[in-house]
Amino acid sequence: MHSRAFLGLLAFAAAASALPNKRSQPASESSIQNLKDKIKNVVVLVMEDRSLDNLLGGQTLKGLENPIQNGPYCNPYNVSNPAEGTVCTAAKDYDEVADDPDHSVTGNNMEFYSDFTPDNAAIANGTLLPNQNGFIHEQIRLYGADANRTELSRQVMNYYTEEQVPVLTTLVQNYLTFNNWHSDIPGPTNPNRAAIVSGTSYGHGDNDDAFSNHAFPQISIWQVLNETNHTWINYWDTAGGTGPDAGYFNWTYQTGNDDRIVALENFYTDAAAGSLPEFSYINPSCCGVGSNSMHPTGLVSDGEELIRNVYNSLRASPQWEESLLVLTFDESGGFHDHVPPESARRPDNLTYTETAPNGQDYTYPFDRLGGRIPTLLISPWVDKAYVEQKGTNFIGETVSYSASSLLRTLGYLWDFEPFNPRVEYAPTFDHLIQSSSRNDTPISLPNGTAFRR
Ligand SMILES: *[C@@H]1O[C@H](CO)[C@@H](O)[C@H](O)[C@H]1NC(C)=O
Ligand SMILES: *[C@@H]1O[C@H](CO)[C@@H](O)[C@H](O)[C@H]1NC(C)=O
Ligand SMILES: *[C@@H]1O[C@H](CO)[C@@H](O)[C@H](O)[C@H]1NC(C)=O
Ligand SMILES: *[C@@H]1O[C@H](CO)[C@@H](O)[C@H](O)[C@H]1NC(C)=O
Ligand SMILES: *[C@@H]1O[C@H](CO)[C@@H](O)[C@H](O)[C@H]1NC(C)=O
Ligand SMILES: *[C@@H]1O[C@H](CO)[C@@H](O)[C@H](O)[C@H]1NC(C)=O
Ligand SMILES: *[C@@H]1O[C@H](CO)[C@@H](O)[C@H](O)[C@H]1NC(C)=O
Ligand SMILES: *[C@@H]1O[C@H](CO)[C@@H](O)[C@H](O)[C@H]1NC(C)=O
Repeated sequence: MHSRAFLGLLAFAAAASALPNKRSQPASESSIQNLKDKIKNVVVLVMEDRSLDNLLGGQTLKGLENPIQNGPYCNPYNVSNPAEGTVCTAAKDYDEVADDPDHSVTGNNMEFYSDFTPDNAAIANGTLLPNQNGFIHEQIRLYGADANRTELSRQVMNYYTEEQVPVLTTLVQNYLTFNNWHSDIPGPTNPNRAAIVSGTSYGHGDNDDAFSNHAFPQISIWQVLNETNHTWINYWDTAGGTGPDAGYFNWTYQTGNDDRIVALENFYTDAAAGSLPEFSYINPSCCGVGSNSMHPTGLVSDGEELIRNVYNSLRASPQWEESLLVLTFDESGGFHDHVPPESARRPDNLTYTETAPNGQDYTYPFDRLGGRIPTLLISPWVDKAYVEQKGTNFIGETVSYSASSLLRTLGYLWDFEPFNPRVEYAPTFDHLIQSSSRNDTPISLPNGTAFRR
């Protein structure tokens, strides 16, 4: 039976099963070729400030690790005195989060390590691990003087049910959701947005003036696509509040490419006309009631409306069949998540120092990821209701996905080198694009549900 012919047949079967599908190796030649064959347009929508346990905490799709399936998870009122009691995850009963949780670098330290100034050396040698225990403590420190602490605890611990976020629920049930995708930096919006499009915040850890002064000198997705002859447009909601992220970079203005930063309304007309560029990047508005990024105090239901509009117009576009929509967030916004962020390669030799609320200085060396955030791949080329766990980077390590996974994957799609070590060592998702397209994708998404303020 163990004839040469039979062994030959086995070898053939092994080769056949290596066709591009979710079992194929990320970044393999066949997987990259399949990605190039199927995907001509990438649309990236970066929402604001929600952890996976917050926004997708009520999703019942198997494979998502969250409060409704694996919880409840609890945090103490006071990390130094457990006797004061704890509050555990539960479903939300309101849409608005009135008190924006701390998401500074040192605020994230308190939330992840119960310490504003954790020992970097102990983190680096693996003896100090995040316990995800300080979310309530930090919310009470920030707002406790003028608010009910039970209410404050619920703001950071509670999650949205499937019924409360029907747009996201429909997307989760029809497309691909990452269970282990983290922001690149345990800090606020602009550094993370810079990291999404350039793999580094260039040493910046807060929303300083450099972002609006176009001061960033490093190479970005905008420049590399231009130099490799690929088209891009940065669509932004002109109500403002985030980005436009192409505007951070000196290159954009020096080369006159700032005319590729256009109002969001153009996305809908370009999609309808089939004239979307190869890379579309959407900046939502931020951050109060009426803005659409989901950043507190903005309503989650208004963010769902934006996601629905973007999806519905892309789904109806003549370009849908060759499109990939990446729906992601900038960072976790100070909302509880039970999954500790991993360490990660430093992108460069820069550091960021700020003074913590306890008066001590803390220096972040950009050697670990931020909180876990919702990220979905939406395309006729991804599996229905699929949950992706951790990824594999180019040296074969099993690691969490992060914002840099996007740049690393786009580098394979459009033939550019990783900008820095953080991007180089990020796992890619090229292998999640299938070799056949689906005919069962929803034509449109349901309207969002506004509920109690
Ligand atoms: C937390 O507990 C510690 C130790 O008992 C106490 O010193 C501190 O004042 C408490 N913090 C707050 C905000 O109550
Ligand atoms: C890890 O680093 C901490 C802080 O420098 C040090 O006290 C500890 O001995 C180190 N442990 C190991 C196993 O290297
Ligand atoms: C605090 O908020 C909780 C939940 O909304 C409520 O049940 C409780 O009565 C409030 N306590 C005070 C002192 O207002
Ligand atoms: C480039 O950045 C510098 C700050 O480093 C800023 O002063 C200058 O205006 C920027 N140039 C352009 C063309 O935006
Ligand atoms: C750039 O792309 C356009 C459109 O695909 C093509 O016509 C042109 O030849 C390309 N130029 C270079 C230098 O590759
Ligand atoms: C790259 O930017 C230059 C302006 O600096 C522009 O002329 C050119 O068309 C751009 N290339 C692409 C592919 O958009
Ligand atoms: C950081 O600095 C070291 C020592 O100067 C150098 O060898 C290394 O290449 C630098 N790393 C990066 C990413 O620039
Ligand atoms: C959904 O919302 C839109 C406004 O964005 C409205 O025109 C439409 O009637 C709503 N559809 C349903 C079924 O409620």
